[in-house]
Amino acid sequence: MLMPTPEAAALLAEAQALADCPPEQIARRLIELRQLYREQPALFGHPTQALLRAAAERVSAAKAQAQSARALTVLAEVFGYPSFRAGQLEIIEEILAGRDCVGVMPTGAGKSVTYQIPARLLGGITLVVSPLISLMKDQVDAMREVGIRATFLNSSLEAEDRAERIAGLRRGDYELLYAAPEGIDGAVGRLLGSLDLRLIAVDEAHCISEWGHDFRPAYRNLSGLKERFGGLPVLALTATATERVKNDIIGQLALREPHVVRGSFYRQNLRLYAVKKGQSHGTGQGVREMILALVRARRGEPGIVYCLSRKSADSTAEFLVSKGIRAAAYHGGMRPEARAQTQDRFIRDDVEVVCATIAFGMGIDKSNVRFVIHRDMPRSIEGYYQEIGRAGRDGAASDCILFYSWADVLSLEAMSERSEAEDPDVVNQARLAVRRMYDLADAGECLWRRLAEHFDEEIANCGASCGLCNGLDIIRLAAAVRVPARRPIRAHESGAVVDTATTDAACTAATDGDLFDRLRQLRKTLADQRGVPAYVIFSDRTLADMAARRPRSGAALLEVHGVGNAKLMQYGDAFLEEIGRSER
Ligand SMILES: Nc1ncnc2c1ncn2[C@@H]1O[C@H](COP(=O)(O)OP(=O)(O)OP(=O)(O)O)[C@@H](O)[C@H]1O
Ligand SMILES: [Mg+2]
Ligand SMILES: [Zn+2]
Repeated sequence: MLMPTPEAAALLAEAQALADCPPEQIARRLIELRQLYREQPALFGHPTQALLRAAAERVSAAKAQAQSARALTVLAEVFGYPSFRAGQLEIIEEILAGRDCVGVMPTGAGKSVTYQIPARLLGGITLVVSPLISLMKDQVDAMREVGIRATFLNSSLEAEDRAERIAGLRRGDYELLYAAPEGIDGAVGRLLGSLDLRLIAVDEAHCISEWGHDFRPAYRNLSGLKERFGGLPVLALTATATERVKNDIIGQLALREPHVVRGSFYRQNLRLYAVKKGQSHGTGQGVREMILALVRARRGEPGIVYCLSRKSADSTAEFLVSKGIRAAAYHGGMRPEARAQTQDRFIRDDVEVVCATIAFGMGIDKSNVRFVIHRDMPRSIEGYYQEIGRAGRDGAASDCILFYSWADVLSLEAMSERSEAEDPDVVNQARLAVRRMYDLADAGECLWRRLAEHFDEEIANCGASCGLCNGLDIIRLAAAVRVPARRPIRAHESGAVVDTATTDAACTAATDGDLFDRLRQLRKTLADQRGVPAYVIFSDRTLADMAARRPRSGAALLEVHGVGNAKLMQYGDAFLEEIGRSER
């Protein structure tokens, strides 16, 4: 065996010593050593190489750790949230490491921050492809409120506005660019080539798949993107869980060995109740009166009542209005402008309750929907899950009350036979889906466990987030709340809003409903002044936490859930003043 030369021996000794150095020092030295290796590979024996490789791995692990710490800092300072939700950091880490990723997480789980935080950390521009042009403005407004520089390009813009935005993008004024898939093969697509792109996020990625429930042909324009921007990581996000759709997304977008992150379907802040029609729980009320009591018990908070038919959406809305509730209908039989108006007024908190057929709610990021009532049984568990998912996106406790009956099963079956009479397979599938839904509602078991089971996830009984586990009779509780029609009631008068079972911050609002109401009023005033939806300023959960903590300084305000630096600067004084008023 050859004796190592003195130089080689010195290198081995250095490689051994390097293990104890700080990562930055290792990184610097490794660059020099790589150069040396290129010139004199013979100096590097096997043990030296192995040691240096281990040192390099330590450097990248340390880098990843530093990235994760930075991600957490952005979450806290920009968004004002103390911790990541399940799956978020895992996705962000993959993206920051430059790998493709698919995030399958239920609606409201918080998929957006998984590209918004990398957008800040990666520099350059993150492109977000999103199908709903009508919501892009709100999305961009929400980003601006937290201090992330965002813009959008779509067909709704005037030429001049568009040109300005493009110039801004070229100058590097923006971190986030939202665009519709339609534009990708046209002008926006050509523009992309000249921008400093770092990440492509495809939101609602199931729209690319014909197997999904919401196929959009324009999403096929995205198929060439990965190739065109070679090295860029692509992040595909969806709430649709089936394997078929997931594989289709991976194939269509040509993702390279993507990391797949699956979120849990269990959302503990949504409390599920199933109420069989015809049982009035000792209140003597019919479904309509029960709904009225449930709505009244919620002191003017926003909610959705899903109805099976257009007729019942209309009549339920009329009934609520006749009782002094600000309600409105929303269904496919209305003119598009009338529908858009209802949606807009709901988003801006001018309408409290929307009585809708299934057409309502898709893609709406109104975070403070406090209840979803199914006046009639939904036609499938998937539909049910999607609809309850529109409640409680801010993480605060929200109630989901399902009215169901065997008669609903029969009407749904009759409806699908009428509309799909051609294809017996489709009719059969639909019938099966309806019966599964009925079984779930009527099983008398933990609703969350059954629901998760349907999506192939095993969980224990939820313990607190369904009527069976928490033992609350939501109908009796609501009926027991005595309210004159227009006086807003306090949270603690309503068993439905007060929560003894969970420690959710929102519930502590019950201790000071007055302050909470005044903060809500202030939020609405500020939102109207700025022409943005109220939830874009602060979520309900944030206001509830604020009412409970009563911060007296900017520093204390930053501790409140959902208050980041930009919002502190923008709104801190106004909210501190309002809180101070109550101390006097
Ligand atoms: N770590 C967190 N802590 C607290 N709140 C969070 C966190 N991450 C996200 N949120 C909030 O959760 C809400 C829902 O997030 P988001 O809109 O990203 O959901 P989503 O997964 O995209 O749902 P959908 O499939 O319906 O589009 C938002 O109001 C967001 O600010
Ligand atoms: Mg989303
Ligand atoms: Zn349960």
